[in-house]
Amino acid sequence: MPDGRPHAPAHGRHASLSPPLKWAGGKRWQVRHIQPMWEAHRRRRLVEPFCGGLAMALGLRPARALLNDINPHLINFYRWARRGFRIEGDLHNDRDHFYKCRARFNELVTDGHSGTREAAGLFYYLNRTGFNGLCRFNRSGAFNVPFGQYARIGYTRDFAAYEPVLQRWRFTCQDFSSLPVRADDFIYADPPYDVPFTHYSRNGFSWPDQERTAQWLATHPGPVVLVNQATPRILNLYVSLGFRVQKLDAPRRISCTGDRTPALEVLATRNL
Ligand SMILES: C[S@@+](CC[C@H](N)C(=O)[O-])C[C@H]1O[C@@H](n2cnc3c(N)ncnc32)[C@H](O)[C@@H]1O
Repeated sequence: MPDGRPHAPAHGRHASLSPPLKWAGGKRWQVRHIQPMWEAHRRRRLVEPFCGGLAMALGLRPARALLNDINPHLINFYRWARRGFRIEGDLHNDRDHFYKCRARFNELVTDGHSGTREAAGLFYYLNRTGFNGLCRFNRSGAFNVPFGQYARIGYTRDFAAYEPVLQRWRFTCQDFSSLPVRADDFIYADPPYDVPFTHYSRNGFSWPDQERTAQWLATHPGPVVLVNQATPRILNLYVSLGFRVQKLDAPRRISCTGDRTPALEVLATRNL
C-alpha cells in the first residue's frame, strides 16, 4: 500500500473497516456525498452493480446488500473474506517473491482453481504488492501487473474483522444487466469511467456499455445514484433519460492506465 497504513480493526457494529484491496476508481472520498442521500433509505437493500473495491458499501454499512462485479478474482476474494479467512502464505514485499506468487496465481487460474482460498490469498497479495493495485490480464488471460516497488506495505493476514459485516451481504459475479434487482432496492452504480472520444475504450467498457447502463438504470422504480466522469456525452445521456445531474470535483485519481489526472465527476440521481 503506498501510504503504508494498516487496516483499522473492527470493534462493534459501526467500527470503520477500510476497503481491503486497492482498486482503480475507488470511491471512498464520495461516501460523505452519498451518505445524506442514503440516510432516508437505509432500510432498503443497497445494490452495487459495479462494486469494485467496496468503498461505498463499507462506508454506508447497509444491513442488506447485493454487491456485484464482473471480475471473478475480486468476488472470490470477498467470498473468502466473508468467511473471515486467514492468509497462510508469505506476505512479503519482495520482487522475486512477487513474481513467484504471480506465476503460482496464473497456474491456479489455468488449472481451473481460481475459486480457491489459495487463489484469494494470492490475489490479495498481488493487489497490495503490484503496481498501483492494477488488475490487468494479457491476451491469454494471465495476470501481468508488475512489482509495485513500495517502500512499505501494511498487509492484513487475518480477515476475521470483515466476517460479521460481509456475511450479511450477497456477492455475485456477472454482467450488471442480469442482476436480480428488486423494485425497492437502492442502486449505487459506479461503472468504469467514460473515456471521451472513443467508442471501444481500453478499459473494456465501450460507449454502448455506457448507454445500456444508463437505460438499465432508467427502468429502475427505486432510488438510483450513478457516478461517472463528467464528459459531455455522459451528461447528455443522463439528462436525456430524466436524471437529476450535478457535478463533483474529484480528488486526484488512479485511472486504469495508472495516470493521476484530476477529474470532474457527475452524480446523476432519480427517485430520491
Ligand atoms: C470504477 S470501478 C468501481 C469502483 C468502486 N466503486 C470502488 O469504490 O472501488 C468499476 C467496476 O466495474 C466492473 N465492471 C466492468 N464491467 C462490468 C460489467 N459489465 N458488469 C459488472 N461489473 C463490471 C469492473 O471490474 C470495476 O471493478
